[in-house]
Amino acid sequence: MPPVMTSVKESNLPIIWLLGGPGSGKGTQAEKIVQKYGYTHISTGDLLREEVNSGSERGADLSKVMKDGGLVSTDVVMELLGEKVLKELPNSKGYLIDGYPREKAQGEQFVRDITAPSGIIYFEVPDDVMTARLLERAKTSGREDDNEETIKKRLKTFHDNNDPILQAFEDKVSKLNAVRSPAEIFTDVEQILDALTAKAS
Ligand code: AP5
Repeated sequence: MPPVMTSVKESNLPIIWLLGGPGSGKGTQAEKIVQKYGYTHISTGDLLREEVNSGSERGADLSKVMKDGGLVSTDVVMELLGEKVLKELPNSKGYLIDGYPREKAQGEQFVRDITAPSGIIYFEVPDDVMTARLLERAKTSGREDDNEETIKKRLKTFHDNNDPILQAFEDKVSKLNAVRSPAEIFTDVEQILDALTAKAS
């Protein structure tokens, strides 16, 4: 583990991974969790889009991968994620890591370099529902990956990698039916987070 990261592990702050396919509602639930629990929300997709928007050479390479619905290299994601986790540590009450890991090896690297997650919430949604949500969002999102062709590729990338992640971290995963209203889903999310907090105290 990079020495500086030991401070994150020693903080014993809750670390929750939010997982699910594209459009499964990770960001929507993250907003609600932040409002109630005050956790620090870190979306790897947002971090990568910030890098793209910075106009850097690295950003241009990332943009190509993201437009193609693929996965950015773990080294780049971990560098951005690690920096952000450390930056937020002094004021954090806990972390919501949204959209990471995208493959089993990413999860293993997080555990090695930072620490094990306290819990994992997985939002389960069929492909046709995720596609419809993203196409609706496309009308206003301005996201270059919210189009039919890229959504298909994002879904394939998700399905190619999802099961091994869930299997590897099975004992930490809570699966939720996320084809309900955001408020209904959040009721279950609260139960999971409250149970985790009670266990930790
Ligand atoms: P990222 O930005 O993480 O995109 P994503 O995983 O495809 O997920 P989204 O942000 O599109 O959806 P979401 O699940 O947050 O749903 P949301 O709440 O927004 O990643 C983008 C790209 O970056 C990746 O493809 C990859 O290239 C790269 N990348 C990111 N992380 C990486 C990593 N770790 N390693 C390598 N590469 C990485 O909701 C979607 C829509 O549905 C909204 O309009 C919302 O209002 C609506 N909605 C939400 N919940 C409900 C509900 N319950 N009912 C009805 N509508 C709902």
